[in-house]
Amino acid sequence: MKTKVGIDRIHFYLPPKYVDMGLLAEARGVDPNKYLIGIGQEKMAVTDATIDIVSMGLNAAYPIIQEEDKDLIDQVIFATESAFDYSKAAATYLHESLGIHAFAKSYEIKEACYGATAALQIACDYVRLRPERKVLVVASDIARYGLATGGEPTQGAGAIAMLISKNPSVLALEEDSISLTDNQYDFWRPDYLDYPLVEGKFSTQLYNQCFIKIMEEAANKHLDLFDTLKGLCFHLPFSKMGKKALQAYQDYLNSKEGSLDPKVVLAFNRWLEVYPDLIQIGKQVGNIYTGSLYLGLISLLVNGTALNAGDKLGLFSYGSGAVAELLVGQLQVDYRKVLKLEDLNKRLAQRQELSIEEYEMIFSEKLPNDGKTHLLEPSVLPGDFYLTKIDGHRRYYQQYKTQTD
Ligand code: COA
Repeated sequence: MKTKVGIDRIHFYLPPKYVDMGLLAEARGVDPNKYLIGIGQEKMAVTDATIDIVSMGLNAAYPIIQEEDKDLIDQVIFATESAFDYSKAAATYLHESLGIHAFAKSYEIKEACYGATAALQIACDYVRLRPERKVLVVASDIARYGLATGGEPTQGAGAIAMLISKNPSVLALEEDSISLTDNQYDFWRPDYLDYPLVEGKFSTQLYNQCFIKIMEEAANKHLDLFDTLKGLCFHLPFSKMGKKALQAYQDYLNSKEGSLDPKVVLAFNRWLEVYPDLIQIGKQVGNIYTGSLYLGLISLLVNGTALNAGDKLGLFSYGSGAVAELLVGQLQVDYRKVLKLEDLNKRLAQRQELSIEEYEMIFSEKLPNDGKTHLLEPSVLPGDFYLTKIDGHRRYYQQYKTQTD
């Protein structure tokens, strides 16, 4: 029997500040229901200058790495599309701060919001060949389109960390997956621009087309997803996106086949039944780009009361540009026990709401770039990592310690 490999631990870091989407809509002269219902977002996580992709990634990873893992992790793979450095990988900072052994490799992966899925696949393949070893995968992003732009309501920030090992506690991933590349311009950022360019409507259409093509390829390969999948997780740039893809696929099947096979109807019903659990946390956070699919997975695991160990889940990953992939995983016996629910609930409850003026001010803040020494004040919760200092264009991170620590 083949060794099971997959996600042994998974954790999400949520920045401590947010904007209410109803207030943002009012400030932009938009009917709040467009954001709250039409796009399906209630709150949007916002980061200030002391919270960057590295500090968020560290905060996601730190709670799930135990002492004995540090000598077993051979790779730290960091997926992001909001890197602050074109050369040095964000993973190198995590490697040091987490105390991973020196002979591990650390690097970054990019393909828009798909990057973390490529990282996850590399990690699983590595562990399949070396079942005693582990790989740390981190997805961390600050999603920004600019103030008062069409993409503004689909911003957000956060990080996911996943420890990949044999006999995983959360989700064992199947070796076979279906991937797809389609060279398109739906979202891209030339190096001279601060924010990405986006063809919003086109990006949602392309997402839907990629989903349909992958599901069709699964059918061609006789993978019976309709029978086997209890739920489908989606990359969720906003909470309505996965539902739109399901609707597009259902419409496609209806136009092709006239009427739907009863097992297909049953599968759509099952997938729609768990959908509200999938989006529950993301609605409070917004888009976290590379980590978005995995935030949906966490949300489903935390809130999905209809799920049981042994159930199979599909994970649909999409990155603009565009690359998509469908993975299949099986829930493991201890999946609920290893989720850090207390930490997640504490972070959701302790967030500080920003006024629109404060949000706009924070949004426009820039880190000093004069090469001098700058000490930065923490805005994170005690115990969290933050960007402590910039010195000679170098970044330094520490845990925020209060006087009582
Ligand atoms: N009450 C309820 N719903 C409303 C509404 C109201 N008052 N006003 C609008 N809506 C609905 C619209 O009907 C639409 O629903 P639908 O998509 O089911 O048709 C939804 O709200 C969005 O409205 P729309 O006019 O399409 O919004 P938009 O032109 O501002 O674009 C995005 C929305 C998501 C495309 C835009 O925010 C964007 O470009 N985001 C970044 C790119 C992205 O996230 N792409 C996703 C794939 S990666």
